Amino acid sequence: MDDTSIVRTKDVETVLRQGDDQAEGHAGLSKTLTAKDLMGFGIGIVIGTGIFTLTGTGAKNYAGPGIVLSFVIAGVVSLLAALCYAELAAAVPTAGSSYTYAYTTIGEIFAWIIAWDLILEFALGAAVVSRGWSGYLQEAFDLPTTFFGEESSVNLGALGIALVLGIVAAVGIRESKWVTNTLVAIKVSVCIFVIVVGIFFVKLANLSPFIPPAQPMSKELQTTGLEQPFWQWVTGAAPTAFGVTGVFVAAAIVFFAYSGFEAVANLGEETKDPAKDMPRGLIGTLLICTFLYLAVCLVITGMVKYTGLSEGAPISDAFDQVGMGWASILIGIAAVAGLSSVILVDIVAMGRIGFALCRDGLLPASFGTVSPRFHTPLRITAVTTAVVCVLAAFVPLHTLAEMVSIGTLFAFLVVSIAVAVLRRTKPRMHRPFRTPAVPALPIISALSCVGLMASLAVGTWLRFLAWLAIGLVIYFAYGRRHSNLAPGNLVATGYGRRTDNPVEPEPR
Ligand code: ALA
Repeated sequence: MDDTSIVRTKDVETVLRQGDDQAEGHAGLSKTLTAKDLMGFGIGIVIGTGIFTLTGTGAKNYAGPGIVLSFVIAGVVSLLAALCYAELAAAVPTAGSSYTYAYTTIGEIFAWIIAWDLILEFALGAAVVSRGWSGYLQEAFDLPTTFFGEESSVNLGALGIALVLGIVAAVGIRESKWVTNTLVAIKVSVCIFVIVVGIFFVKLANLSPFIPPAQPMSKELQTTGLEQPFWQWVTGAAPTAFGVTGVFVAAAIVFFAYSGFEAVANLGEETKDPAKDMPRGLIGTLLICTFLYLAVCLVITGMVKYTGLSEGAPISDAFDQVGMGWASILIGIAAVAGLSSVILVDIVAMGRIGFALCRDGLLPASFGTVSPRFHTPLRITAVTTAVVCVLAAFVPLHTLAEMVSIGTLFAFLVVSIAVAVLRRTKPRMHRPFRTPAVPALPIISALSCVGLMASLAVGTWLRFLAWLAIGLVIYFAYGRRHSNLAPGNLVATGYGRRTDNPVEPEPR
């Protein structure tokens, strides 16, 4: 492989030194975060519209009380990916997360594709949740639908919240951490409230049958053309609701609820002791969220028969139905707070990915400068916030939501493959955390990601492929020539060591 190859790779040791040098020279990101802070960020981005809204759609239309099993399936897929992320995040703790892991293993072009995919995931995620936030606010305070909620032509509420939280993210990790931790505390408290109070209203009869028998899909829910699931388009199968298939379809829908936990891995360069804190942060986030999701689902489907669940606000509506109206208001306020923290962490994560891309020459370096005043990648955060604001103002929620899931699953897929590849190509690399059962676990993880992706709409696949195609054009027009690994740029940046070098670096 020569230096003009699109699969040129970066050296793991160089990547790590780069982060350390910058931290010492005060030009980089400050190393202040602990495992607890990482879990705060993680929970902040994970618990959101998924549990607050998609539980209703999933249970009512596809899985009944079996929605609990759907959450188990989506949780297991996420946990397998988290175990893969943990190995790489502990060994290569950088701002770029899966982007950098791909760069050190399978090559630059794949790294770029991953980064481009992550930008999609976080930008669209922030935009989706901003629109959801605007909708909740509209309902709670009866605000004009011209500017708030899904009926608006210009969603000023969504634009406003994205702008405010973009500014919070831009002025520094400390402020972001403080705001996020407060919002996370409110959100977790409400989940616990739902579980502890709701359990007294559970009727076992509502939980039976746990998985309602399979039946033909109702007319309104039948999807055709570009909106049908990819597997249905491939096999020509007739759509059914409920039964075991329904549980799996609902798993693909509620997978959105887990998306975002991997943003924790983007904070590698700001973590005090990534070797220990990263695996704890990632896996801890996921376990806490999974536990809360399962308990909330079980309680909600036990409080109200699945056929009577609301699709818009299932949790607050369940409390309304059992005569606790005041609790619905409380839950509504918490949903608004909870959604804010998801938007905030999405924007923080996007800034970190952009920072890594600019530093590596794949995007113009001037975008990625770290502000000496705030110690954040100020410009890239400003640019990405502006994009989120436009998306949030004009693009409908449902169009964006599936895109987030396909982007997340694609990133999980690449990280799983990277773990298995890196074990072969760099067996002696220092791994403070080792994914168990390699290569079996990464292979199962990759296959289960593909399985869930197959349940997403054909149109989502096409939009995703179009986004990747745009990314490739940018890479070949700019990144390939300006990359720090391109010939002529090597000496100036000190990136000269290639991983196709037969001598593997010594363990750290
Ligand atoms: N997991 C996040 C949510 O459910 C994106 O809102």
